[in-house]
Amino acid sequence: MKIKDLIISQIKKKGQIDVGEFIELCQFSDNGYYINNNPIGQNNDFITSPEISQMFGEIIGVFLINFWEKHIQRDFNLIELGPGAGTLTEDIIRVATINKDFLNSTNLFLIEKNQVLIKKQKDRLSNLNVKNLKWCKNFDIKNDKPSIVYSNEFFDCFPIRQFFRKQKWYEKIIKYNNSKKLFNFESEEIKNEKLLQSLEKFNYAGVAEISKTRKNYYDSVCKFIKNNKGIFFTIDYGYKTFPKNFSLQTIHRHKKTHLFDNLGNQDITAHVNFDELIKVANYNKLTIESFSNQKDFLLGCGLKERKEQLQNNQDEIVSKKIELDYERLTSKSQMGDIFKVLITTCL
Ligand SMILES: C[S@@+](CC[C@H](N)C(=O)[O-])C[C@H]1O[C@@H](n2cnc3c(N)ncnc32)[C@H](O)[C@@H]1O
Repeated sequence: MKIKDLIISQIKKKGQIDVGEFIELCQFSDNGYYINNNPIGQNNDFITSPEISQMFGEIIGVFLINFWEKHIQRDFNLIELGPGAGTLTEDIIRVATINKDFLNSTNLFLIEKNQVLIKKQKDRLSNLNVKNLKWCKNFDIKNDKPSIVYSNEFFDCFPIRQFFRKQKWYEKIIKYNNSKKLFNFESEEIKNEKLLQSLEKFNYAGVAEISKTRKNYYDSVCKFIKNNKGIFFTIDYGYKTFPKNFSLQTIHRHKKTHLFDNLGNQDITAHVNFDELIKVANYNKLTIESFSNQKDFLLGCGLKERKEQLQNNQDEIVSKKIELDYERLTSKSQMGDIFKVLITTCL
């Protein structure tokens, strides 16, 4: 069934749906954007840090390999959530060729729902020189080996519900106007006491975005790390203090669009509430090793030095390109500040 018809049939059945249900149908139903599309790249909808420069994956690679040398040094799981084009993992494994013990101990798991991207990842990564390599649609790894779990721009894909406050709290909901053949937003007053309580912490902001599925997913990985020991490394668009306006964003071919455009054929993301993720990690008794913006993390781990090394002996054009990529990853007006890095561990 076409996604538009699927959404209309759900609305007819229930009278209305919330924004989260709308996103779920657009992105994760059988023909959804994150099931059957290749969203990443200059000729597609958006570009991510690993695609901008090899330096990004190299810095993360060195960081994770150092962690393994210091705290694991044995057979382990290396797990990427949402590997996209596979570039980050490819860069990490290339860096790891300096440490044969690391590669010989690596059981690599790629957690991916998207069939088009799984094929792309298999073409690219199947020959990697690791001990074991496996793809999984869900995070259901059933061994107790110590683990390194990492993700970039994964948690911003989860559906969110949107709420706003005008003396009382309301939720944005979606209906379908049959005569005009259009979707439209309406609002519904929140009466549910439990939900009202969870919205209280957003009173100062007057708006809120809540993702139960994101929280539950993060929680399940925390529980896994608590049991297996290891590190959970997350980079994403996000905030610690809610920014007082909705962050939901839709992108098609690198341009901003409306939620009701290009159904199942555009990127829909919302900034990640890192305050909530930190609370989940604390609840699971993981240690918060660090929380910073992308700029501070990358520079603290030697990005500037790596950039200068790559620029060495290059002509002006190549050197300028490396400089621009570096700027894009670290400048506060680009990806340096809006992206956050949360590192939690259990040793
Ligand atoms: C925005 S892309 C980022 C890709 C890659 N990490 C990068 O930085 O280039 C999100 C990735 O997560 C995958 N994805 C999104 N939600 C997922 C889920 N619930 N389970 C598994 N994979 C998911 C997408 O198919 C895609 O590969």
